[in-house]
Amino acid sequence: MTTGPVNTAAAGICYRYVMTGKPILLSGVKPTGDAHIGNYFGALKQFVDMQNRGTHECYFMIADYHALNSVQNAEEMRKLTHELALTFLAIGIDPKKAVLFKQSDVSAHTELAWIFDTLTTMPYLERAHAYKDAEAKGKEISVGTFNYPMLMAADILLYDTSTVPVGQDQKQHIEYARDTAEKFNRVYGDTFRLPEPLIMPEVAVVPGIDGQKMSKSYGNTIPLFASRAVIEEKVKGIVTDSDGDVPTNVYAIHKLIKSPERLAPLYEEHRGKYKVLKDALVEDLDAFIAPMRTRYEELAKSPKKVAALLERGGKQAQKKAEERMKLVRKAVGVR
Ligand code: ADP
Ligand code: TRP
Repeated sequence: MTTGPVNTAAAGICYRYVMTGKPILLSGVKPTGDAHIGNYFGALKQFVDMQNRGTHECYFMIADYHALNSVQNAEEMRKLTHELALTFLAIGIDPKKAVLFKQSDVSAHTELAWIFDTLTTMPYLERAHAYKDAEAKGKEISVGTFNYPMLMAADILLYDTSTVPVGQDQKQHIEYARDTAEKFNRVYGDTFRLPEPLIMPEVAVVPGIDGQKMSKSYGNTIPLFASRAVIEEKVKGIVTDSDGDVPTNVYAIHKLIKSPERLAPLYEEHRGKYKVLKDALVEDLDAFIAPMRTRYEELAKSPKKVAALLERGGKQAQKKAEERMKLVRKAVGVR
């Protein structure tokens, strides 16, 4: 058993956080569209690796409340949520080893986010990259988008999380969660553990078929469960630079699924032959994707089973979140 620090901050109330068993790992994904190989290598694959390593108690969350900022149609939300559950299961998240749940099944997320809102200043949230980008583009920004980091801080801190596996672009959000935990602890006494991000440097940013960061919003993705035909179409569309013997963007994607040592002879033998190299990438991508695609299609035939798994995960998460929420309510003096 590990015991966290005790402090005697402002309110004079001390909470000793006690960790029994394994440290907690938590991450979330928004149900906003088809997962792509950037999501997989940047984040999802690590979820599976960490789950299988068995060093952490793992929580994986479908961030449907976060997605409400962009998905504002109930049918669509239900469909995307179900598809993301299928995605988690198809890549190997195992509900016997990890808790897979929907954010909206645990009302403490929004409750805690509100409490954080009351501690957080506007100028501090105005520094968020996502907010600044949206503002720079002249977009109309919802309060939900502005407060996004506080809901995410609640997601993380509610579970006494130590480790948050994410892509590089989420690093700032983890800093927000840490800062918010510190501020709360300072004002109300030690309640929250400070989480650490887990970012794999070599795949921190997976490039898309146009060479910029692969992202749903740029339309440059290779979907994670793509059919052979879609893989062919996407690989055909990879932008190849006209000079140099190695097509950079083809190679960058290829090396995600085959080691540089295994790729070296192929790229050596076919210097400058972009078509041959692209064909080889199609074969390798298809071989890599096929088992996950089959599993996804199988799971899609049993929607009730998937819904039942999510419901069970929701109950497990709810129980865990409630432990911390009780401390929080007591610390702030409500209920
Ligand atoms: P998108 O940019 O396509 O909308 P999301 O924002 O839904 O992707 O990201 C889901 C997860 O996948 C996050 O943890 C994010 O950091 C990671 N991720 C997304 N795109 C990439 C990428 N191109 N390279 C590495 N990780 C990524
Ligand atoms: N903001 C994350 C993304 O856009 C999704 C997310 C929501 C998340 N809550 C989280 C990630 C908690 C890690 C931990 O990808």
